[in-house]
Parts: sequence; C-alpha cells; structure tokens
Amino acid sequence: MCGICGYVGGGNGVKEVVQGLKILEYRGYDSCGVAYLDNKKIDIIKTIGDVDNLKKLTENLSANVVIGHTRWATHGSVNEKNAHPHLSTSKNLAMVHNGIIENYKELKEEFKLNCISDTDSEVFLNLIDSEKGTLIDKVIKASKKVQGTFAVLVLGSDGEMVLGKRESPLYLSNVEDEVYIASDVLALKGENYFALNDDEFASVKNGKIIFYNKNGEKITKKCEKIEKNSDFSEIFYKTHMESEIFETKNVLLKTLKKYTEENIFQNIKLPKKLNSISLIACGTAYHASLMGAEFFKKVGVDARAYLASEFRYGNEILKDDTLYIFVSQSGETADTIASAKMVKERNLPMLALTNMENCLLNRICENVLPTFAGREIAVASTKAYTCQVFSLYLFSLYLANIPLPKEEIFDDFPYVTFSEELVKQIAKFKKVFFIGRNLDYVTAMEASLKLKEISYINCFAIASGELKHGTLALIDEDAVVIAICTQENIKTKLLSNLEEIKARGGEIVVVSQFDDFSDYPCVKLPETQTELMPIVSVIPMQFLALHICELFGYNPDKPRNLAKSVTVE
Ligand code: AGP
Ligand code: GLU
Repeated sequence: MCGICGYVGGGNGVKEVVQGLKILEYRGYDSCGVAYLDNKKIDIIKTIGDVDNLKKLTENLSANVVIGHTRWATHGSVNEKNAHPHLSTSKNLAMVHNGIIENYKELKEEFKLNCISDTDSEVFLNLIDSEKGTLIDKVIKASKKVQGTFAVLVLGSDGEMVLGKRESPLYLSNVEDEVYIASDVLALKGENYFALNDDEFASVKNGKIIFYNKNGEKITKKCEKIEKNSDFSEIFYKTHMESEIFETKNVLLKTLKKYTEENIFQNIKLPKKLNSISLIACGTAYHASLMGAEFFKKVGVDARAYLASEFRYGNEILKDDTLYIFVSQSGETADTIASAKMVKERNLPMLALTNMENCLLNRICENVLPTFAGREIAVASTKAYTCQVFSLYLFSLYLANIPLPKEEIFDDFPYVTFSEELVKQIAKFKKVFFIGRNLDYVTAMEASLKLKEISYINCFAIASGELKHGTLALIDEDAVVIAICTQENIKTKLLSNLEEIKARGGEIVVVSQFDDFSDYPCVKLPETQTELMPIVSVIPMQFLALHICELFGYNPDKPRNLAKSVTVE
C-alpha cells in the first residue's frame, strides 16, 4: 500500500530515496519520512503530507545509506509520531514497513515491547531488536513470530540493511556499487532487478546483496529485466486522471493490436470442458467483471462476478469446469490475491487479467491475460477499467469463435463530457443517484464509485427497476438522478422510471445516444458500435467525477483516505 525506498552506495542516498518516494507517492500519501546514517548514528526526518514537504526538509542533507517511506495509515492516525521510519528503543535500528502485523497487540504484551507510536510496525521493529544474532538472524526470527503481511526494510547503525517480505512486494536492483530497494520496480534504477518471494530476505552491505530463505540459508536468485520505458504515461494534462482518460483510445487500440497480432488468447489454458466463468475482483475491477459476466452470458457461457472480499470468506462451491478469472489493475490487491490462492490450492483453472507484467497475481495464476493500459497513477481507475472491459469483451468473442473487431472501430472514438453548466448544477446536490439497467447499471455503479471517491459526494447507484423498492423514498428536491441508457430494449422502461422521479421533485439528467429523452437535460452519446457503448458511456461519467472534484478544489489524483493498490485486507 505504502511506498518503500532504500539506497546504499556512494551517491546522495537522501536525494535518490526522496526521488523514489515521489514516484511511489500514489501508493500512499498521508505522511512520509527518511532515516539515514550519520556517523554511525541513525537520524530520522518525518513529516505529514506529501513528498514535496519531505523534499524541502531534506534539501541540504546527504547520506550514503538511506531508507524512506510514504505511508497509508492502517494502525494509528496520521501524524509525525506514526509516520515511518520508526526508530527502535535501542536506537540501533530504523525500519519502514508496508502491510499489517495482525498480532501486534499480543506480541507487544508477550515480549514487553515499549513503543512510542500507535503503529503495528513499531512493534515488529522492537521485536526484531529484541532478538539475538546478526541483523539478518533477528529479522528472520522476528518474522516467524508475526502474523499478517509485510514488506520491511531495516537499517542498522553499522550501515547494514536487511529486507524481507510476506505478501507485500519488495524489489532490489544493483548498479555497480549502488543498491536500490523499492516496493515497486518503477522506483528502481538500472537494467535488472531481483524480486523477493514470500518469506525471502536479503542483506545489503558495502554494495553487496546476499539473499536468504526463511531458514536463514543463503540462496541465489535470478534477476529479471526492468521494462518501464513505455509503461509510464506522460502527464499531458493538469492531472494524471485527465491524462489517463484521454489515453483510453490508444490503450484500447494497443490491447486490440496485441491480442490480434500475438495470439494471446490461444496461449490461455482453458478447462477441458468450460461450463462457467467466475470473475473475482475489487472496486472498479469488480465493475469490469460484472460487465465481463454480461459479455460471457451473451455468447452462451454462464458467468458470475464476485467481490473478492466476499468470495474469500463465502461458501462458494468451486468446480473444475469453471474458469476463475481474477481481475486487477495492480495485481496486488490483498483480497483478490487471497481469493486466487484459495482457488490455486484446489488446483482449479484460473486466469489473471492484470495490467502489471510482473505482479503477484500473475505469479500465482501463471495463466495470464494482460491488459495494455500502461501505468495508471491516479488513484481513481479510468483507462485500466475501460481496458479490462474491452479485454473481457474480446475474450468472450474468442470463446464464441467470433472474429475480433478491426482497428477501424476506433476511428472516430468519442470523448464525450458533461457541459460545464451541468457539472455546476449537479455539484450543488446533496444526493446523487446513478440509475441504469443491465450493462448501464454496471456503468452507473462505476460512475457512482468514481464520483464518491474523488468528490466526496454521497452518491450511489441503483438498478432503475429497483428504485420503487425503497430508494424512491430518498428522492426529493435535494436529489439528482443521472440515468444512463445505451440499450434500445430498455428505453421505454426508463422513461417510466424518470416520470416517477419527476413526480417526487428529483432533478434528472440523462446520458444516452437516443433522442427519446428530449424532455430532460441530456448528455448525448454518439451512435457507435454497440460493443463500444459500455466504454463510450463511462467516459462522460469519469469526466463528471473529475470536473466536480476540480470544482471543489480537490486533487483527483490523490483522494483522501485512499491508495492506489490496496495490499491490506
Ligand atoms: C478505482 O477507482 C479504485 N481506486 C479501486 O476501486 C480499485 O479499482 C480497487 O482497489 C481494485 O484495484 P486493482 O484493480 O488494482 O485490484
Ligand atoms: N501498518 C502500518 C502503519 O499503519 C503500515 C501502513 C502502510 O503500509 O503504509 O503504519
């Protein structure tokens, strides 16, 4: 969830680490800090707010051994005391941690650990400090006692760094005598990197990396190539979110091209007899999964989407004639990962639909269908969502032996948006409802998630037909209902729903390509290929959220309380 960075070498590690944290800031941004070695003494600088604050505070500093962190609080409120790095009671160790130590209270009591902060992380650090042996021994011993997830980077006052992980990602790269450590390959320098597996550890001293397994035995690891060139989208607009929405056409085209030219579907291992598909995901990826389920059913394959957080604790009957598709932009989301592990344990057919090449989910599933959305930085997912929807659509065609569409379908790809006047009008309402049926209901859900996540307006989505079963009680002059209608067969049904809303004083805005809604303010969608409608219609909803957010003066790229990848349960 958070960002971890480390540097050991002859250069200015403070600058390197702060630069790395800036790249990782989208993963967590409530507070940040660095710890560095100053003459065998560990100094720490922490601040609440973003990495720019830290940059100012560390401008004149220089050190060769440095660790840093940008936090997304799970235990303890956002303040300097709880910000990482933490210093151990003996002051001999500093540590940054990503994840959650579930048994931190028990450990604190059992081992009588004194902590200053309210974090679970500091308990882990003092537990490490209380163990006997070398730093690597201490970290391995302590990690056996902790339950939960972690990526940790520990700095000793003798200049040694030790790192280890369970569930949360952690990587290293080596450029001559310099070693870079980060929780995302994007923040590493060099050509190659090493990925730690769960319960693997490494010690870095004098530019040398030694890897260990959980028994403390030395192991060798193969390095992998860093491919981040084309992966990082440039910001052409004011914010990442805006830039990313405007990349939609290109990334869909890229996905279509790759699928067509590289026979990607042919490489997917399918169950011998495919009877149904279960899609498992969280948040926006769950909405893409709902859309996907509709596509699969349309071509005759029974399908259902599940929220990963429900799936993992539910009583689903797992079957070997079902293909389990795990959908995730980051490929790191804790609940999705846990659900994938559950299916893997049963040795059932599974597939990862992810946007990150070397993510954990791909390693678990092995069978991978990539989306080619490029790096998505804004917390609110936009181009990754449309790519997931499109990929699932193409996959449904493949399963039904229907040829994939030609690139020309994107020739006049439209970026439709709400007028400035409508944006201002909608922003005034205390309650916003999104309605639609079937595919449009899914778009309504995604529109509602987008709006609440970055504008903090209380809103939700409801299937149009369900309005009168409860939600209609909330409709009055403080409510605006945004109705989405892209399907011919439900036009007249929606018109009746709109009458019901009008009769109760609710304001109405319609998003549709049909002319039937001229009695209402309407965002007109173009008549385009039906298969593109779920994509074409979600774009104005993404813009609506963005423009209301900007109108309120918030930063759409970093909504409060959220983080880009949710690696905690
Ligand atoms: C999207 O706008 C959200 N920030 C969030 O719902 C996200 O889609 C969810 O956390 C799942 O992430 P993933 O696709 O990386 O698994
Ligand atoms: N659980 C730790 C905390 O709340 C780490 C959170 C993170 O991953 O940023 O400080």
